[in-house]
Amino acid sequence: MPLFAVTTRLPDSALEMLRAAGDLRAADASGPLPRGELLALVAGADIVLAQLGDRVDEEFLEAAGPGLRCVCNVAVGYDNVDLAAAARGGVAVTNTPGVLDDATADIALALILAATRRLGEGERLIRSGTPWRWRMDFMLGRGLREKLLGVVGMGAIGGRVAERARAFGMRVAYHNRGQAPAELVARLEAERLELDELLARADVLTLHTPLSDQTRHLVGARELALMKPTATLVNTARGPVVDEAALAAALREGEIAAAGLDVFEHEPEVHPELLELENVVLVPHLGSATVETRTAMAELAARNAVAAARGEPLPTPVAPPQG
Ligand code: GLV
Repeated sequence: MPLFAVTTRLPDSALEMLRAAGDLRAADASGPLPRGELLALVAGADIVLAQLGDRVDEEFLEAAGPGLRCVCNVAVGYDNVDLAAAARGGVAVTNTPGVLDDATADIALALILAATRRLGEGERLIRSGTPWRWRMDFMLGRGLREKLLGVVGMGAIGGRVAERARAFGMRVAYHNRGQAPAELVARLEAERLELDELLARADVLTLHTPLSDQTRHLVGARELALMKPTATLVNTARGPVVDEAALAAALREGEIAAAGLDVFEHEPEVHPELLELENVVLVPHLGSATVETRTAMAELAARNAVAAARGEPLPTPVAPPQG
């Protein structure tokens, strides 16, 4: 019987799929396990279901041992996995694309609305007991109609954000290093721009690029300086795509108007200066955090795990690195 090691608490439906196909060793905690416990949990496993807080590197693969066939990340992002090390060890890697696009796009839209309409600031004002009245010029934000949404990374999630933004009357432009899906671009009437031009023209810039050596600090001081002083930046991708210190400075100096962040450069730490600013909305990595989505992610990871155990084609494999 294959041994499935599960590093985080998963919904019963996913655990049942695994139990029906092999033996199960499952963590009874939902946060990332301390490293020592993690390495002990995966020792001798055939398949590991990992979460994005688990660093899957040489040490992890060695701890798992030579029987390890597949690491099934219960996340669409897989920057926690050293793909080259996995490929060297003959270990396949899978992720959970598709099932979290709507939930993540919803959070991006929520952040766009919260940041442009100053909802966090308004909530804090009321809770602080500060007296207030309706006034013509009280806490004015900015509307979205006719404004330009700039999508960095027009893929499945970026496309869903753009669809929603269109319903709010926004126009769409995007930047991708590779090709964006042609049907999506045509349907959204989206204009492709070079990154600097997108930065300069976007009223709302939303980030949907995976984290890699190429995208780390993709938005830093230089890029923020290119943006409009009225612009809003939203990050629901990965924290290190943005230079958080530079963002705090840009928000403080009014280089951009506002930001909405679901992810952080040194997650779960948040840059202390951001905590002091009114013009940034901060939420704790909630992109895929709905009951339905987390269940679908766990079940997709379990389907990958069972397929790997049976030697069947993997439903959603991550391509190994080239070269
Ligand atoms: C969440 O951030 C994910 O990558 O699924």
